[in-house]
Parts: sequence; structure tokens; C-alpha cells
Amino acid sequence: MKVLVLFDLARPASAGEQFSPRELKELEDKPTEADVLAALSRLGHEVETLGVFDDVLAIIETLKRFTPDVVFNLTESFHSNRANEPNIPALLELMKVRYTGAKADGLILCKDKVLAKKVLLYHRVRVPHFVISPQSRPLKRLRRFIFPAFVKPIGEESSDGIAKASFARSAEEALERARFINEKFQCDALIEEYIDGRELYLSVMGNTKLTVFPPREIFFEQIPEDEPKFATFKAKWDDAYRKKWGIRNGPARELPPELGEKLARLARKVYRALKVQGLGRIDIRLTAAGEITVIEANPNPSLARDEDFAQAAASAGLEYDALIQKILDCAGA
Ligand SMILES: Nc1ncnc2c1ncn2[C@@H]1O[C@H](COP(=O)(O)OP(=O)(O)O)[C@@H](O)[C@H]1O
Ligand SMILES: [Mg+2]
Repeated sequence: MKVLVLFDLARPASAGEQFSPRELKELEDKPTEADVLAALSRLGHEVETLGVFDDVLAIIETLKRFTPDVVFNLTESFHSNRANEPNIPALLELMKVRYTGAKADGLILCKDKVLAKKVLLYHRVRVPHFVISPQSRPLKRLRRFIFPAFVKPIGEESSDGIAKASFARSAEEALERARFINEKFQCDALIEEYIDGRELYLSVMGNTKLTVFPPREIFFEQIPEDEPKFATFKAKWDDAYRKKWGIRNGPARELPPELGEKLARLARKVYRALKVQGLGRIDIRLTAAGEITVIEANPNPSLARDEDFAQAAASAGLEYDALIQKILDCAGA
């Protein structure tokens, strides 16, 4: 197949600029793109790359010239703005080209953490209780809220804006953090019920018939017992910090068999309710009492070889190249 790998660049690409897996990994700091590109080449596809900054015409012209059978869509922003993420599949849709992963609707739905929760509530899926502290009219008090709370930006990803201070023991702490989020991210803040428990990642693939891979889990091995444990920005991305605090992701520790099936059913339900396509990762928390709460759904989760989605697939016997091929096969028109 002719495959166009589309991804974000933080600078304009030069005309016709092509990227090798090595350049992507070492010069551009794009391990996911490097892994996917290398797999597509090993699979024998005819591949071109297009790094996108702010040039819509470059996308259109490349589609017309190269006429790919499928676009492997790895973009997460446009003009360095994540809010633009849904507009890329929307454009591909208009160009009538097949592309991998989420459509505009699933991205719009999942990226708005409040809208996503409202939809899940309709489907009777347990989500954290929440209130919004709008940027334009920040809340002055929190009534009948049970603490601790957890405060985050309404539309960020990858634990941007998630730090130790996201955990709030009182109304004062929560409102202060919400104010900080309003100002730093210029967006509404979400004040949620803090869900104490294990954090599991459920990787789902498909469009109508869905496959759920074995759950993965984040472990916090050196963080003192009585401290809250959650995936701050540092806990996710800072290798030295992860090492210091014994933070690692791996196959989920043993779960009762009936719970495994329950989680898979929930993952499928959330995936469908939030219109995820192709592939997605549903993040949940499991309390000591066995209660399951959905934290968020991620359309187009990271496909880096060493991250949870690919690792979960591998643990189900689906090796990386075969996984990439399946994702291509799921590409919608
Ligand atoms: N209500 C909550 N209770 C406990 N931990 C939470 C809650 N919401 C988020 N977290 C923690 O913060 C992390 C990032 O939050 P998330 O909503 O997934 O944002 P992002 O889109 O940045 O990944 C989660 O992986 C989890 O560890
Ligand atoms: Mg998350």
C-alpha cells in the first residue's frame, strides 16, 4: 500500500522534506513516529512522510501528488495548538482519503473532559464527581464537595498541568489550583473527586468488532504508602524521576477473573459511547473495594513501541509490525 505518515512538527517543514526513523527519533524527538515509520517500511509499504506545522495546502498537495491508499495519522495538533487536533481528520475526510484512528467526532468528544463525562453518565458509567471552575468566572467556593479533590485543565493531554498540587485536601487548595490552571492554560479548570486506587490502562482496537488487550497498570513502588499516587507530568515523562520513585508501567497485577471480563466490557462500552475509532486507551481507577471509575478515554493513544498500547498488544501475542498493519486495516474512509 501507499502510506502517508502524517505527524506534527514544531516548525515549518521544507518542501518535500522526508524523514527517516533515525532522524525522527534522534533529531526530532519523535519515538512514536520513528517506530511506526520503521514498521511500515518493514511491512513493505511504499511510505512518504509529511511533517505538519501550519500549512494546510501542503497536506492537500501531498495527498494529490502521492495519492496514498491510507494516511497514517499521528498528528495531535496544528500550529502547535492541540485544540486543532480534530481538524486534521476532518480535512482528511473532506479529501476522501482513508486514514487511521479517530475521526473528528471522537476527538472532539474525548478531548473535552466534561462533555465526555456527561456522555458517560448518560450510559451509567461511573466517572468522578466534578465541578467546573470557568476561566471567565472562577468559582469562589465549593459547596458540598468531598475532599480530597483533583484539579486539572479541561482540555489538555499527556498529564500537562498535572503535578503534586493537583491533589487538593481542602476547598482552598482546590480553588487555588483551579485559579492557577485558569491562568497558566487559559482554560476552564475541572475540580474532580479524587479516586484513590490502582490505575489501569485498557487498550482497545477495532471499529465494530472490538479487541481488548490485557490491562496494563502504573506502579508507584517507592512512593510512601500514605502519599497519593497518580500520573503527574514528571511521573509520566521524566525517566530520572520515575527511577527515583520506582514508577513503572507493566502488565496489571493479578485481577480476579470476573473483574477482567468486566473491565473489557466497560472498555468496549466507553469506546463506543465516545465514538473512538481504530484504536483507543481507556484509563480507569480501581478502588480497594473493587469499584471501577473511568478517568478518561484516549483516542489515538501513543503508538510508541515501549508504551502501554503496543505493550498490551504484544502481551496478547500481537507483535508490533502486525499491530501497525492491523491499525492500517482498520482505517476508515
Ligand atoms: N479524579 C481523579 N482521581 C485520581 N487521579 C486522577 C483523577 N483524574 C486524573 N488523575 C490522575 O492524573 C493523571 C492524568 O489525568 P488525565 O485526566 O488522564 O489527564 P491527561 O489527559 O493529561 O492524561 C491520571 O493518569 C491519574 O493518575
Ligand atoms: Mg490520561
